[in-house]
Amino acid sequence: MKTVIEPFRIKMVEPIRMTTVVEREQILKKANYNLFLVPAKDVLIDLLTDSGTAAMSAAQWAGMMEGDESYAGSKSFERFEKVVKELTGYPYIIPVHQGRAAEKILFHVAIRHLGSRQPMVPNNTHFDTTRANVEYLGAKAIDFPVLEASQPALRKPFKGNMDLEKLENFLNQHAKKDVPLIMMTITNNSRGGQPVSMQNLKGVQKLAQKYKIPFFLDAARFAENAYFIQQREPKYNTKTVKEIAQEIFRLSDGCTMSAKKDGLVNMGGFLAFHSKKWAMSARSLLILTEGFPTYGGLAGRDLEAIAQGLEEVVDEDYLKYRIRTIEYIAIRLIQMGVPIVQPPGGHAIYIDAASFLKHIPRSQFPGQSLVCELYVRGGVRGVEIGSVMFGANTDMELVRLAFPRRVYTQSHVDYLLEVIEEITKNKSRLHGYKITYEEPIMRHFTAHFKPI
Ligand SMILES: Cc1ncc(COP(=O)(O)O)c(C=O)c1O
Repeated sequence: MKTVIEPFRIKMVEPIRMTTVVEREQILKKANYNLFLVPAKDVLIDLLTDSGTAAMSAAQWAGMMEGDESYAGSKSFERFEKVVKELTGYPYIIPVHQGRAAEKILFHVAIRHLGSRQPMVPNNTHFDTTRANVEYLGAKAIDFPVLEASQPALRKPFKGNMDLEKLENFLNQHAKKDVPLIMMTITNNSRGGQPVSMQNLKGVQKLAQKYKIPFFLDAARFAENAYFIQQREPKYNTKTVKEIAQEIFRLSDGCTMSAKKDGLVNMGGFLAFHSKKWAMSARSLLILTEGFPTYGGLAGRDLEAIAQGLEEVVDEDYLKYRIRTIEYIAIRLIQMGVPIVQPPGGHAIYIDAASFLKHIPRSQFPGQSLVCELYVRGGVRGVEIGSVMFGANTDMELVRLAFPRRVYTQSHVDYLLEVIEEITKNKSRLHGYKITYEEPIMRHFTAHFKPI
């Protein structure tokens, strides 16, 4: 059979409140045309983020009931540690409440450890919170994405890769003591969720060894990345996704993990190391800010759910369904003539709003116009990733539709496509927006808009 189906059936449902176009016009106006200010109960299909929005399995919920809430040495920690060790091969596993907590502790340890005056961290592309945690400590976050990453229409298999030549030039120019670690974000979220190839990961590892610098992964979407390697890198098409993931982790010296993505949970994460020295420093800081080392910032039940989620996420039927959903939407959008970032990544579709709405100048936020129309026409919530979010620091006006894991069905997806098709037919009627209120930082969360 060619049709890829959801490899699960539904045992517990959460109703969606149906609304009309007229109701949504009023709701949006009341929210000052900012989708972050629209109550979730008024959204039909919520594609704001894939983070912390997954549906847990029956086995995960059963694990929640089994959670051991002992302060020290709980049974749930033992299970969590065993699963993470088996997957990653790192000997020191430290639970934290989410990805950014792992980042805060890692950079604190790495940067303090070196005592450099001008620390710099290279990455294929830092995710926002990773960059913020590096910069908060007075260090510089530097990105070395490959050139093709900035060409949205170009179809290449691994647009998330690190530019190895630029990385090597950088390592040549700077003293070892100024580079606490090299990081690789898999998949590359800020570049459209594009995957990184095994060849590229091995290239980074080789440079890290040559210059004697620790190599860390930001592993939030490691399973999606491993699946892309299996599908797109010929040497790996006979390996299982789990074997590929294990090989990736074993190239590096440690990782940060937001389990809110490929951990298939709503909250949680971990930090892991090969180095005992770094792990011990990290644990001291952990006790100060997160909790005792066998629970981090989490409840015992959360550790059970993560352990189970990490086992389920490498299931190939699940990954096939997930990646196929995104690919299916991409194919249909291309057929409709909707410009998107190609090829689609693992967790989201990015619509190029500037090309889609050529009649709306960038100063009038074409991405904002499209997210508002998606909401009014279909109750779909996406997010503007363009001039509203980044001000003058971007050359792209994108709208991201991120897909929660195991939450929506094929008919939800077909409905979304119908909404976009209708918008496409009438797109000349869409208009720009102006900002009437904004905060000095992170304005996109709270800004107010008015239609022009
Ligand atoms: C690549 C990447 N790293 C780190 C994080 C931060 O994780 P958290 O939201 O759990 O703090 C995210 C969250 O979206 C992410 O996508």
